[in-house]
Amino acid sequence: MADLFAESLRSFLKPVIPFLDDPDVSEIMVNGPEDIWVEKKGKLIKTQARFTVEGVNAAARNMAQFVGRPLTDERPRLDARLPDGSRIHVVLAPIARKGTTISIRKFFKDKLTVERLIEFGSMSPEMAHFIEACVILKENIIVSGGTGSGKTTLLNVLAQFIPNDERVLTIEDSAELQLNQEHLVPFESRPPDKLGKGGVDMGDLLHSALRLRPDRIVVGEVRGGECFHLLQAMNTGHGGSLATTHANTPVDTLRRLESLALMSAVDLPMIAVRAQVASAIHLVVCCARFMDGSRRTTHVSEVLPLDDRGEYRTQDIFVFTPTHKDEEGRIQGYHAPTGALPSFLDRLAPYGFADIDEAFFDPIARGLPPPAIHSAGTFRVRWVPRFRHRERGEPDSPELIASFPKISTGNRHANVSRPAAAPGREAPRSAPAAAPPARPRDATSADARSGRPAPRPVQGPHVAGARPEARTAAADLLESLEQLPGPAEDADPVERTAVHDLRGDAAED
Ligand SMILES: Nc1ncnc2c1ncn2[C@@H]1O[C@H](COP(=O)(O)OP(=O)(O)OP(=O)(O)O)[C@@H](O)[C@H]1O
Ligand SMILES: [Mg+2]
Repeated sequence: MADLFAESLRSFLKPVIPFLDDPDVSEIMVNGPEDIWVEKKGKLIKTQARFTVEGVNAAARNMAQFVGRPLTDERPRLDARLPDGSRIHVVLAPIARKGTTISIRKFFKDKLTVERLIEFGSMSPEMAHFIEACVILKENIIVSGGTGSGKTTLLNVLAQFIPNDERVLTIEDSAELQLNQEHLVPFESRPPDKLGKGGVDMGDLLHSALRLRPDRIVVGEVRGGECFHLLQAMNTGHGGSLATTHANTPVDTLRRLESLALMSAVDLPMIAVRAQVASAIHLVVCCARFMDGSRRTTHVSEVLPLDDRGEYRTQDIFVFTPTHKDEEGRIQGYHAPTGALPSFLDRLAPYGFADIDEAFFDPIARGLPPPAIHSAGTFRVRWVPRFRHRERGEPDSPELIASFPKISTGNRHANVSRPAAAPGREAPRSAPAAAPPARPRDATSADARSGRPAPRPVQGPHVAGARPEARTAAADLLESLEQLPGPAEDADPVERTAVHDLRGDAAED
């Protein structure tokens, strides 16, 4: 039966069949009957292919029939998969003003492996090894990026690191993940039928998943109120969960999750949700599509506890630094550790990753300049031995800067890393840490800018410093809420990274 449908669908899609069969084409975009584009080797190309108006409508309706989902004037949009696994989205005319619009994301049977991503230069072997360790350590990881930046592909790759003896539940809107684990329980959501009945959304599936004894929950894309329940699950013992979401930087990712969680019906104050986000997510892996069509992992960042104003803090562990465009227009750059040490460094050796020691995170030991632009939290960042001066708030030495004349690192870290109250390590995740020193505020300048009195710094240890388990009590959170000034007027702006400027996807989000 499926074969019959596949055959009839191919005849409806005749004008674009050559592209469906071309392995170099990854996406086909039909913007009405006469405007058809393809993405070939990462580049968008306009084609000469044409449908008739009836032809494109018939193709769209045939796809809807295949998946048994309504596509009518009342429901003119459709998310579905073709018989070969390709992902499609359809919007009928006249909503689509150029005519019925179809996008086909082709499904590749040879899924990308971590080795292939390293080969393409999408990530470095060290990054991959570190991420593998984080998956084994059951850190909760969010993969983020813009549209078509390779999030799902990267999630697939990360999920391959999950040990085979674990029970993995996957939840997706349209099934794209290809996991190899033996004990796999995949779920796919379902929209309501034409009578508005029978819908099963991601939130429902998450609810079921939590009752089905998962070792890991993998969520294709978090894009609604189910985010709150996912955060809860991550905070209540379902470690090692993986998911993707749309965002460009690590801090944006946390903000995005916060706003998605606030969409759920649960009426919680924002600071409570923020604390949930910061404690649930341990690692953010960002990817981006660049102007030359390449996809790269741009940040591997650890999420630190909220700062004393209740703002998110992340420290980049690895970043991609673009350097130049080569003669063929390809963007060149390098992946390097930043020199900052993950707070869970001590937990790596017992899990069999003794090779990931302090030296592993030293860019200079790898012959790479310390990346010029990256975020390093705001205080109490631990650095590799060569950068210990940054822990004391001292600038990089002229010799260090001069070592890489072509790619100067500048002296950015002189102000980023402020002296820690008690030099030493961030407290382990399970133990409440001492309150960090209150952030010195420049009251005069804050007043001058906002015209309001500078807010009181938080005194208690509730929000800052402590890791999740120690501070989820509602009372603590509410007390923090009262004390917090809210988003501060003089909050450090999220750094616009060099990667932003070269990204091809920024405008689409
Ligand atoms: N590292 C990579 N190198 C080259 N191509 C890649 C890479 N990662 C993904 N791709 C290709 O990019 C396209 C988009 O990938 P993917 O579906 O993973 O993106 P996405 O971010 O999940 O998109 P969406 O936001 O639409 O869900 C696919 O055709 C995929 O094969
Ligand atoms: Mg995706």
